[in-house]
Amino acid sequence: MQTLAIIGAQWGDEGKGKITDLLAEKCDLVVRYQGGHNAGHTIWVNGQKTVLHVIPSGVLHPHCLSVIGHGVVLEPENFLKELDKIKNMTKVTPDNLKLSSTATVITSYHKLLDAARETQGPEKIGTTGKGIGPAYEDKVSRRAVKVKDLLDKDTLVRRLANGYAEKAILFKNLYQIDFPTIEEEVERLYSYGLQIKDYVTDTFSLIDQKLSEGKRVLYEGAQGILLDVDYGTYPYVTSSSTAASGIYTGAGVPGRKLEEVIGVAKAYTTRVGEGPFPTELFDDLGTHIQTKGNEFGATTGRKRRCGWLDIPLLRYSVKCSQLTSIALTKLDILSDLPTLKICYAYEVNGKTVDCAYPGINLFDAKPLYKEMKPFKDTFEGDKASPELEAYMSFLQDALGIPVKIYAYGPDRSQIVFRDNFLK
Ligand code: GDP
Ligand code: IMO
Ligand code: MG
Repeated sequence: MQTLAIIGAQWGDEGKGKITDLLAEKCDLVVRYQGGHNAGHTIWVNGQKTVLHVIPSGVLHPHCLSVIGHGVVLEPENFLKELDKIKNMTKVTPDNLKLSSTATVITSYHKLLDAARETQGPEKIGTTGKGIGPAYEDKVSRRAVKVKDLLDKDTLVRRLANGYAEKAILFKNLYQIDFPTIEEEVERLYSYGLQIKDYVTDTFSLIDQKLSEGKRVLYEGAQGILLDVDYGTYPYVTSSSTAASGIYTGAGVPGRKLEEVIGVAKAYTTRVGEGPFPTELFDDLGTHIQTKGNEFGATTGRKRRCGWLDIPLLRYSVKCSQLTSIALTKLDILSDLPTLKICYAYEVNGKTVDCAYPGINLFDAKPLYKEMKPFKDTFEGDKASPELEAYMSFLQDALGIPVKIYAYGPDRSQIVFRDNFLK
């Protein structure tokens, strides 16, 4: 197997970082293709926690080449801080970390605009406040600053000036907030350009070359399919293509198809920010899962909303990304619960619906539950109890794809690969 992808199958925070880190051991490249530092991917190694935001989660493996593809939006100040933060954990140099010259830059204006809209705008999305949406807006409207523009002052001035007058009117007259002048922003960004220049390259050609050499490439998704700007629960989504299609636009798989597309799903469901959530639990059980699962955002620290596993949503995710297998995480959090349920379908306007197609208003979806036998696994050894096997079988049968990996704790060691996956 030469090309594989790890994609969040829910609303993000499914444990992609942990699974990527583990599979990176057996891969040559790990490539991020969308999103930015709105992501927070957590890895635990020997009791030490690392949270990665824009740097790929294979970076703790020295043999692995980390690539930030052109579909990513990059905030250079944060990128440099992240590099600095991980230097005690791993050696990162321009030899093992590459940044696309055509990735889009997140500027000060993007961050200010994101915050202003969330606090003063007509509709709150509950964004991470990192400037992601406004940066992608500038990309599609063809006036963004690209990473390569940070390396040449004249180009940077020209690119920043594009759209500046419009932004000035918005900030001054609508939001009434101060913002940096072009000169200040040029100086700031250019100084970062000097610091990142050795990492910058044409990552498309690099991936193309590595694939033709027979290297194994792992594409690491950020967020989750249900946050995809096209497939997700719009408008409560992020601004990038989080589904597998984002790999083709955001990094490239030159001339090939993805052989394995692993959808990472929590054994329950969580969501941060606004938007519909049919199986959300508002009772003590929801609070228990939130507390036991330590469900706080890895980037913003916000409490994550919690609910039962939702099969109609996962069925939709399987279709959107042609998932070939599932990695099921956080089973330990459900162990020893007094009751255990899985939503197998919804009732919508008196009809039973088993897939969360976009035509369905999820705010109106009433979940239909199957009561599962609670499991009490301690996860010592690789053998699952019959009750846990039944939980996973129900999911596999409903989705028509296998659970090839399951996790029962945050550490690298707390994982089971079934059927010799990637052995
Ligand atoms: P990502 O954004 O998909 O990489 O996920 P996050 O890092 O935002 O959130 C997942 C959280 O669950 C992190 O704190 C992980 O350390 C933790 N985690 C991952 N897998 C497991 C697991 O199987 N059990 C438990 N208890 N924690 C896990
Ligand atoms: P990882 O990669 C969970 C959510 C935000 C908000 C919406 C839009 O760690 O799984 P944005 O700042 O992207 O414009 O916010 O998307 N969101 C995430 N939720 N995990 C993430 O990333 C997320 N990145 C963005 O909470 O609802
Ligand atoms: Mg996360």
